[in-house]
Amino acid sequence: MALLEIVRLELSYGIERGLLRAVDSVSFALREAGETLGIIGESGSGKTSLVLALMRILHPAVAFYQGEIWFEGINLMRLSREQFRREVRWKKIAAVFQGAMNSFNPVIRVGHQVAERLLLDGNISRKEAYRKVESLLERVGLSREVFYRYPHELSGGMKQRAAIAMALILNPPLILLDEPTSALDVSVQAQIMNLLKRLKWDLSLSMLFISHDIALASDLSDRIAVLYGGEFVEYGVAEDVFGEPLNPYTQKLLASVPRLHGVARPGFLSGAPPDLVMPPPGCRFHPRCPRAFAPCFTRHPSLVEVRPGHLARCWLHTNL
Ligand SMILES: Nc1ncnc2c1ncn2[C@@H]1O[C@H](COP(=O)(O)OP(=O)(O)O)[C@@H](O)[C@H]1O
Ligand code: SF4
Ligand SMILES: [Mg+2]
Repeated sequence: MALLEIVRLELSYGIERGLLRAVDSVSFALREAGETLGIIGESGSGKTSLVLALMRILHPAVAFYQGEIWFEGINLMRLSREQFRREVRWKKIAAVFQGAMNSFNPVIRVGHQVAERLLLDGNISRKEAYRKVESLLERVGLSREVFYRYPHELSGGMKQRAAIAMALILNPPLILLDEPTSALDVSVQAQIMNLLKRLKWDLSLSMLFISHDIALASDLSDRIAVLYGGEFVEYGVAEDVFGEPLNPYTQKLLASVPRLHGVARPGFLSGAPPDLVMPPPGCRFHPRCPRAFAPCFTRHPSLVEVRPGHLARCWLHTNL
């Protein structure tokens, strides 16, 4: 049984111009404990909407939310809001959002905020909860005295570590990381990536690592999914996707990664991301694709298994 299996998940926002399809029929699975799926997409491709859909944190503008989310054999979409809040959110699936700033109340000490989640869950004394929080703070690389600090007394990297501790406090088997390092400078980013790698191994944590940075995701991910205009356009084992990217969009993303060795191949991706209210007909990437040919302009390609376990949405790899 897969830990997590998503089947045709859809989330749309109702906006003045119509229905904006932010997550468009997305399917994937995390089969093994400790597996990390990296989800890569440029800004506006639907990454945060996917995380919010999995956490069932729905903005009032959400007009359409459907599909199946199987977790440990249960379809979470069938649970009531109350059941989901009580049994799943933070306990089974936790999230670290972009910019940890917003995860904390500025007027409450960090340790008390992390402990609050444990205390709300019940069955634990205040003293025991505080002890647990202190040891978790140490596990994420913070000293125990951070417990008594206010959020503004922490640096960006420390705050992100505290946000990771907050997400881990109820021992969830799955954690969703939405651009967890994008607000940090490069050296701090590397430290947080090392922490995530260590946690992945030590706790056998399963993760969705969501980023616009394909190089960063390569560091941590076992599998990679590439998101474009709300849809997966490529999916596979990280070595396959990086070694032999099939979709021209993935190829462009990889070509833009600076290389230490070899000849740099600047990969310019001109043009804007697709309008998700009225996406281009045919392949959504066709206005920007250097390899577009006749069918791309009118027919929407499906995500198909091109090689074992390696899927792509592209007419170059699909029988016409
Ligand atoms: N609350 C909202 N109301 C209307 N549209 C939204 C809302 N949140 C996000 N969107 C739109 O959904 C699309 C995907 O956004 P988002 O999930 O934030 O992408 P990403 O995290 O990849 O940048 C974008 O076109 C964005 O403008
Ligand atoms: S289907 Fe056509 S336009 Fe789309 S990525 Fe493939 S070649 Fe490019
Ligand atoms: Mg986002």
